Amino acid sequence: MPQLTVQLDTLVRLSPAGGVAITGIDLSRPLSPEQKDSIVAAFLAHHVVVFPDQALTREQQFAFAANFGEVEAHGGHHGERKRYGVAHVMSNLDDNGTPRLRISKAANYHWHTDKPYQPAPPMLTMLCAVELPPEGGDTEFANMAQAYAALPEATKRRIAGLRVAFRPAFDASRPGADHPLVRTHPDTGRKSLYIGNHSTHILGLPEGEGAALLGDLLEHATQRKFVYTHDWRAGDLVMWDNRCLLHRAVANYEADKYRRVMHRSVVRGTVPF
Ligand SMILES: [Fe+2]
Repeated sequence: MPQLTVQLDTLVRLSPAGGVAITGIDLSRPLSPEQKDSIVAAFLAHHVVVFPDQALTREQQFAFAANFGEVEAHGGHHGERKRYGVAHVMSNLDDNGTPRLRISKAANYHWHTDKPYQPAPPMLTMLCAVELPPEGGDTEFANMAQAYAALPEATKRRIAGLRVAFRPAFDASRPGADHPLVRTHPDTGRKSLYIGNHSTHILGLPEGEGAALLGDLLEHATQRKFVYTHDWRAGDLVMWDNRCLLHRAVANYEADKYRRVMHRSVVRGTVPF
């Protein structure tokens, strides 16, 4: 594939809630400065960037991710041991390689942002689809900047300055972190809601009141009009901005029958403000 500079005519918007596809670029090869700038611009404008038809080794995916910051060595709490310098493997396979459906409090099937319980959660996550079920297994993305902007002014005033406590849903004994409920994007300055799975309560509010507020905000923020649904094709590399999106995997496939294997890379972020 010839290495093209990313032109506007190779960008296709995917939904009103965000998402853009970029074709005509081979991510297995080093990016030119212009290509990198174009991708960053598309990422900041559309939050989810889809690169179809990629064929990357895990090392090449790691190298692509490193264009955007420091790549975290490991992103999961189960699965393979840490390996530096490669994307790690996410799948629905058990230790024997058999497909299994796992739905727990920690599972990706709940709306969440990646690792919000860390003091400086990841800025972006990317997945490359290696093996997919014949159909289904979508990923949904909800636009938290649009959701915030659509809130009534009274609600915006009510939630201004509040902080959310997050703790790992898979192990509440691990340390958590608290972050602004309304965070400001460090690159665009746009405000968005920072909520989802792993949130436990709102600092300074009675537990029930905080939980009700978080529930109401989640219901508002995940209305279909704020959601882009990605229907995966093998070879899709998708990168998304954890600072202004929630996402979830959709269990709309036979997860105990078909293999679904993704390579994942996570780029370190900064402390939310
Ligand atoms: Fe995730």
